[in-house]
Amino acid sequence: MCGIVGYIGYRDAYPIIIKGLHRLEYRGYDSAGIALYDKDLKVYKKAGKVSDLENFVKDVNLKGSIGMGHTRWATHGAPSDRNSHPHSSGDRKLTIIHNGIIENYGVIKETLLAKGHVFKSDTDTEVLIHLVEDIQKETGLDLYEAVRITLNKVIGAYAIVIMSADEPDELIAARKGSPMVIGVGKGEYFIASDATPIVEYTKNVIYLNDNEIAQVKRDSLLIKNIDNTVQTPYIQELDMKLEALEKGGYDHFMIKEIYEQARSIRDCLRGRIYPSQGKVQLGGIKEYADKLKNIDRIVIVACGTSWHAGLVGEYLIEEYARVPVEVEYASEFRYRNPIINSKDVVIAISQSGETADTMAALEIAKERGATIFGICNVVGASIPRITDAGVYTHAGPEIGVASTKAFTAQVTVLTLIAFYIAQQRGTITQSKLVEYLTELDEIPALVERTLQCNDHVKEIAARFKDSNNCLFLGRGSSFPVALEGALKLKEISYIHAEGYPAAEMKHGPIALIDADLPVIFIATKNSSYEKVVSNIQEVKARGGHVIAIVTEGDTQVRDMAEYVIEIPQTDDAFVPLLATIPLQLLAYHIAVMRGCNVDQPRNLAKSVTVE
Ligand code: G6P
Repeated sequence: MCGIVGYIGYRDAYPIIIKGLHRLEYRGYDSAGIALYDKDLKVYKKAGKVSDLENFVKDVNLKGSIGMGHTRWATHGAPSDRNSHPHSSGDRKLTIIHNGIIENYGVIKETLLAKGHVFKSDTDTEVLIHLVEDIQKETGLDLYEAVRITLNKVIGAYAIVIMSADEPDELIAARKGSPMVIGVGKGEYFIASDATPIVEYTKNVIYLNDNEIAQVKRDSLLIKNIDNTVQTPYIQELDMKLEALEKGGYDHFMIKEIYEQARSIRDCLRGRIYPSQGKVQLGGIKEYADKLKNIDRIVIVACGTSWHAGLVGEYLIEEYARVPVEVEYASEFRYRNPIINSKDVVIAISQSGETADTMAALEIAKERGATIFGICNVVGASIPRITDAGVYTHAGPEIGVASTKAFTAQVTVLTLIAFYIAQQRGTITQSKLVEYLTELDEIPALVERTLQCNDHVKEIAARFKDSNNCLFLGRGSSFPVALEGALKLKEISYIHAEGYPAAEMKHGPIALIDADLPVIFIATKNSSYEKVVSNIQEVKARGGHVIAIVTEGDTQVRDMAEYVIEIPQTDDAFVPLLATIPLQLLAYHIAVMRGCNVDQPRNLAKSVTVE
């Protein structure tokens, strides 16, 4: 969702800010704006893409070594020039960019309107900067203190940066419930909502904590809590490579990330499995080994693709560790008074580690005494910071909005957790673990082989690219794979798609089957193979087009389906890791053929930081 970049130092701020905004485009947005100070404060903003903003300012003198930029994903007020950030005070001496939602903006606005403030936008954000202006006018306080007092009056979530024409040598940044990173250079500082705009300038970063406000000058940084206590900043080294943020010769980030999956799964497994010893080691949760040994129930909370990974995790943990698992949409869990107690382990799965609903669900679980774990990709994000323990997926930055390598890495971590708990509980024999882990170790190589289906999938995509609807069917742990295949297709190609357990087809979706409907089956050789074969017959009998993901060498389904896509033979436990890949490729090629913006699909955001 919204993105923030700020710079103060000795270089021209504009190129740094614009490049930073491009880096943040992946988060999803609908307008962009910048503010620069050079003798006075200048603000430029535009609905549309960052490139529209660049066009808009191309003839303007953009000097200044202090400035900030924003990409907005509309919440309060339609995407438009006037609702874009930055928003300025009435006297135009102050300007703000903001991620998040100010919940009590209505009450504050009424008070300010009564005092004569005039508002130019429909946003909650504008209220904040008028309040700072009001407090400064009434009290004569400096900007830093006035912002601190303002934030004490605010209910909601925010990451903000504020500039002032009267105090032009500083940026004020603050966070509560929305991420904010400060990059520390020599004589310069960078501010951003994630590390991607910062990494090419410095690897030294400070993650602001909730309720902290920073006064950032060229050669000094002061961080206070909003209760006015001075904080000691903790500088961390970023583990992020610049190449990971570039397309590296691919047309889109999504396809690059699909192709990275052999490597990302390998990175995820590294140092965690010892196949010959039949041993799984998960340093991040080892302190909880005893708790897991005696656990009665695990609850998984997540959103979107991460929720699908959670469903695969349910199959794996129940099958191998024999622990009951419930998988919940975080957004539902948080509002339905969930029955959770101190005996439970609640696992949040989140690529970004910032999803607002997932954060809120975890907070409820924590309040009720549960042990909370995180499975996250972005190191240092909010979720790993509030959890008791966790396992990083180590998939590297995922830029395409449609999650691909993060999903397979999440499933890999869940596989490891299933075997780890099984190992603690003794629900799997040592010799079986040796077998499973030996096979798991081979998965990255099998992913590489699976990716060889790309050209064939492209042909299938060309055949079905004009479909209006599509059905994805699977059984067991291939059901969440079907859900994920349908989600990929709908989110990037805008074709209506549904995922269903194959047997449930008869209770509704079968009515949709006609000569125009492609039906994609995950029909690999496993315990439910024969049942899925029957479901394929049922679709065929009604004239549907069958595309089947099958195990290499399968002949039975080949004779029935219009198209088959082969994946290598592997144990049931690992089928989701391979079967997902052709579905990702299918969605990708169809979206490209339909001329869709694959990496930044309309209305979607990579990290959903509002509920
Ligand atoms: C958004 C993204 C999805 C993602 C979901 C959950 O909707 O577009 O790709 O699966 O949020 O995000 P998280 O970062 O918590 O995994």
